[in-house]
Amino acid sequence: MARDGAVYACQSCGAVQTRWSGQCPACGAWNTLVEELTSRPPGALKATKPTRRLGLAFEGLDAETPAPPRIATGVGEWDRVCGGGVVPGSAILVGGDPGVGKSTLLLQVAASAARAGARCAYISGEEAVEQVRARAQRMGLADAPVKLAAETSLRTIVDGLKAEPFDLVVIDSIQTMWSDAHEAGPGSVTQVRAAAGELVRLAKKRGVAVVLVGHVTKEGAIAGPRVVEHMVDAVFAFEGERGYPFRILRGAKNRFGATDEIGVFEMGDAGLAEVKNPSALFLNTAGARAAGAAVFAGIEGSRPVLVEIQALVAPSAYGTPRRAVVGWDSGRLAMILAVLEARCGLHFGDRDVYLNVAGGLRISEPAADLAAAAALASSAFDQALPQDCVVFGEISLSGEVRPVSRMDGRLKEAAKLGFRQALGPREAEPPEGMGLTRASRLADAIQRVHDAEWDAS
Ligand code: TYD
Ligand code: MG
Repeated sequence: MARDGAVYACQSCGAVQTRWSGQCPACGAWNTLVEELTSRPPGALKATKPTRRLGLAFEGLDAETPAPPRIATGVGEWDRVCGGGVVPGSAILVGGDPGVGKSTLLLQVAASAARAGARCAYISGEEAVEQVRARAQRMGLADAPVKLAAETSLRTIVDGLKAEPFDLVVIDSIQTMWSDAHEAGPGSVTQVRAAAGELVRLAKKRGVAVVLVGHVTKEGAIAGPRVVEHMVDAVFAFEGERGYPFRILRGAKNRFGATDEIGVFEMGDAGLAEVKNPSALFLNTAGARAAGAAVFAGIEGSRPVLVEIQALVAPSAYGTPRRAVVGWDSGRLAMILAVLEARCGLHFGDRDVYLNVAGGLRISEPAADLAAAAALASSAFDQALPQDCVVFGEISLSGEVRPVSRMDGRLKEAAKLGFRQALGPREAEPPEGMGLTRASRLADAIQRVHDAEWDAS
């Protein structure tokens, strides 16, 4: 039996148990239950007095609700992911690997919003005020009227935020915050949950937008309990591939905007620069396109993004050929290879296959199927695609090329960037001056790659 007041919190999912076990009954993870002392044993919740019944007020769906006001921070890529600016009284969780640039991003957001007239505070539990200030100076933000504080005590922070009105408060990071109402150590699930709960309540009550920075665990989840993700209004992931300067802010949950929106930044000496035209970044435009490369006309959030997909098909030296993918789903690659084998007579059984999405971007759209297949075929035939050709389309198991969403937007973006040809589904309509090679079956598309025959406009 647990000692009085002791509970066991799973460090993976945040579920609380009254007794210890090797495996978390809630999420099935092993060795994640850690004893935590709470101020109140869970069974001892005081019975609340029955409140007087109030009538439940119903409203119609068609009633007029004004759009929520927004604080435009002036960092356009951030505002876009928020859905057009930060909503006052909302709580946002920003997760990312250590060193990816979360502190840099939020200092920039706070400084930019402060310059635009919002009352902003940046509270760091990880760095001293001098360190934050030095960074701000390096980034040319020293003149922004942001109030800085280095503090980890939740009580001090909440009291401070109650004493002074703010529009936007950044808490960097939620894992360093610590509440004296709980005995568990900082960073533990209990503390993170308590701190997040208190700050979210404060946000709602006082109409302050609160941005919580969260570290990400090895498994890719925001460290600590999943429950924090449920408490907040929006969850953004800040991602970046090691060795690339690009950083992508991706909406994973957003009560006030679209969730598939992305913001693109480039990390430089003076902090993060916004990338207004990501296509230029992910495209290798120098020189002729090599065999095995296909430009995919994709959509990220609300924006068309062109990105190069590179494939290499090479004889395998081992009994089991290798399949390696960067930036795409390996299950999807296996499916495309199987369809190429079964429907197009291309054999990969004794060949290694490598697939790479250039620039460190991760693609999850099925619309990339045809581009991946074209890149694979191009490498297998050692036949380069035209320099000015984009590819898109979904592939079914039966070997059909299917239409995808927003084909016009994809083709227009390609045309804007100087592409004159496309390989895509039959249903697509190219803009003026652009040729479209229509393929209703994957086998036709692959034949075109092999013969290098393209339809002009
Ligand atoms: P940081 O914002 O501290 O990351 P996080 O808060 O996510 O842990 O960013 C750390 C990295 O960013 C660090 O490796 C240095 C790099 N960086 C730059 O390249 N240029 C800059 O102007 C700044 C401020 C940081
Ligand atoms: Mg940091």
